[in-house]
Amino acid sequence: MSRVLVVGGGGREHALVRALRRGPRAPEVLCAPGSAGIAREGVRCLDVGTGDLEGLVVVAREEDCDLVVIGPEAPLVDGLVDELADGQVRAFGPTGAAARIEGSKAYAKEVMEAAGVATPGHVVLGDHEAALAAIEDAAYPLVLKADMLAGGKGVVVCANRAEAGSALDDFFGERRFGDTVVVLEEFVDGEEISLLALCDGERALPMAPARDFKRIGDGDRGSNTGGMGSYSPVAGIDAERAEELARSVHQPVLDELRGRGTPYHGVLYAGLMLTLGGPQVLEFNCRFGDPETQAILPRLRSDLLELLEAAVRPGGLEGFELEWSPDPAVTVVLASRGYPATSSSGDRISGIDEAAAAPDVEVLHAGTADDGTGGYVTAGGRVLDVTAVGATLAEARSRAYAAADRIEFEGRQLRRDIAAEAGEPVGA
Ligand code: GLY
Repeated sequence: MSRVLVVGGGGREHALVRALRRGPRAPEVLCAPGSAGIAREGVRCLDVGTGDLEGLVVVAREEDCDLVVIGPEAPLVDGLVDELADGQVRAFGPTGAAARIEGSKAYAKEVMEAAGVATPGHVVLGDHEAALAAIEDAAYPLVLKADMLAGGKGVVVCANRAEAGSALDDFFGERRFGDTVVVLEEFVDGEEISLLALCDGERALPMAPARDFKRIGDGDRGSNTGGMGSYSPVAGIDAERAEELARSVHQPVLDELRGRGTPYHGVLYAGLMLTLGGPQVLEFNCRFGDPETQAILPRLRSDLLELLEAAVRPGGLEGFELEWSPDPAVTVVLASRGYPATSSSGDRISGIDEAAAAPDVEVLHAGTADDGTGGYVTAGGRVLDVTAVGATLAEARSRAYAAADRIEFEGRQLRRDIAAEAGEPVGA
């Protein structure tokens, strides 16, 4: 029997754990650090944090893991895959050099330019003075991005000069992200999708497209969050269109990175804006999306473990085709009071079992803790992800909301418009 270690402990990792365990080989799955919800499913959670690279290598070796699957971006950018390789442990994910595609926005732009991949125009601003000069005559709206990993909080869409000035004060004056340079990017409008592709260093195999909802409030209002919901697939992006997008977006980047001696293995997540002039890449991430993964994986019929193992080998995905359930999935995120500015811990949660018992519904734990009496309390900003599948997107949506409404805790926040405006997908 294979033994797989999943690194991370949020809703995305919970989705990965479940998808791996329900595969035909039913591997033993361990999680580091995991979560109360993951542990309660009988998964052994190891007390090693995602920042403790050395500790993760030690436990992966001690536990004789056949594969390590890394959820969050920070350990990937910090080189966990390289350290595991040094320790003779096989891991799914890019090396630190390849993960730089997410770790540095300026580097991602440089790679895209070299690869001929369409992306909004940009300039890199090295200091506050140069940045202030650049925003003086710029066209608005514009986008300012901290160059480094910022946990989803490093991107600001600025409607005018005053907003851009205050974002720059934050980046350079307050040094909110330390010693970062800033990328000023042209604003482009269109339809946004997340297209994740499994990559084996040579080839990109697109997964089902998804859409996520980044703002806290209905109608895309309010602050940016880690993601308040998602759905998959997306109307208008059938398998053929997804292949076409991967050929023009992921594949050239893979070829470019291989040419630079940093072949990309793992998931390459493209945040795309489908504009009237064609697709533009807003960002690349070096890992599975959160909460897109929660809506994508329940639809996957292929064996996830086999795919992840194949992606580790150069060219290993040759001949693979992904199989998907035609039934759409919708994920609704329940967040705690104060999120995203703050979060609330220790609020008692009720209704999880009732929600999870509904047909075609799963409840994944993003930020909960054991209350010591068999229940759960809140323990983070995003608390739970409720995913439902249905014969139509409308049915999946209505099941997800019916289940989400069974779950209660003080200060609970959720968006009411996840997938509300979405067309019914056909053949995706
Ligand atoms: N859903 C956005 C992200 O995973 O970065």
